[in-house]
Amino acid sequence: MVQNGSSHPFILATSIGRKFLMSLSGLFLISFLPVHLAGNLLLFKDDGGAAFDAYSHFMSTSVIIRVLEIALVVGFLVHIIDGILLTRRNKAARPISYSGGSGRVLSFFSKYMALTGILILVYLVVHINSYTLKHRIYEPGNLAFYETVKVSFETGWSGFYPWFYVIAMLLLGFHLNHGFQSAFQSLGLNHKKYTPLIKKLGLAYSVLIPLGFAAIPIFFQLRYHNIF
Ligand code: HEM
Repeated sequence: MVQNGSSHPFILATSIGRKFLMSLSGLFLISFLPVHLAGNLLLFKDDGGAAFDAYSHFMSTSVIIRVLEIALVVGFLVHIIDGILLTRRNKAARPISYSGGSGRVLSFFSKYMALTGILILVYLVVHINSYTLKHRIYEPGNLAFYETVKVSFETGWSGFYPWFYVIAMLLLGFHLNHGFQSAFQSLGLNHKKYTPLIKKLGLAYSVLIPLGFAAIPIFFQLRYHNIF
């Protein structure tokens, strides 16, 4: 078995190659989140959901978006499969961590990334089932996306659904906090001047993006309970 085989003829079969792929797919997913959040912020618009429904309708019918969605699914699959392979390999051959070279601590983070990663995957399955599959498979032709989101964040699972989102966003924040800077490190972008900046950027990103997403269910809950 190849442990750290920079000499392996197929780079992606090596641990370095896998870390590289993990980082690339991670950065791709990192670029998706702000775009998704920007669209979701339309939910705050006080127009009965008109803008959000128009946006969702465009997203679910545009050919360009369909192509991008395929890329997104591939990005998620690569990230998940590679994550499983790296975690298994790390367990079998400590102390090589996924964000560092051999001998570099972080086996704790490696575990922590796998756990938060699995929980985020559970969240994603629930999320896609509630929204995407509902509108494309279970109820094709139903274009009332805003109503679906509203009902889910007001009374979904009898009140727990919005808090499930808030907890998931907390876990997403943890995952991104380490993942963001580790992705740059694994790509070899380690620089005296830029690494501290990347760390700061990663911290800001991992706080603001999950906070933005979490604000949505909280907003629907507060409004539902007439708190504002
Ligand atoms: C309050 C938070 C969120 C809301 C209200 C929301 C809303 C939605 C809606 C309505 C869809 C269906 C779009 C369609 O089928 O055309 C969707 C799809 C999706 N969401 Fe979210 N989302 C949220 C958070 C997230 C987060 C945090 C992630 C990733 C970790 C995520 C990943 C996805 C993915 C991968 C899809 C399927 C791809 C797509 O249809 O574009 N979402 N989301």
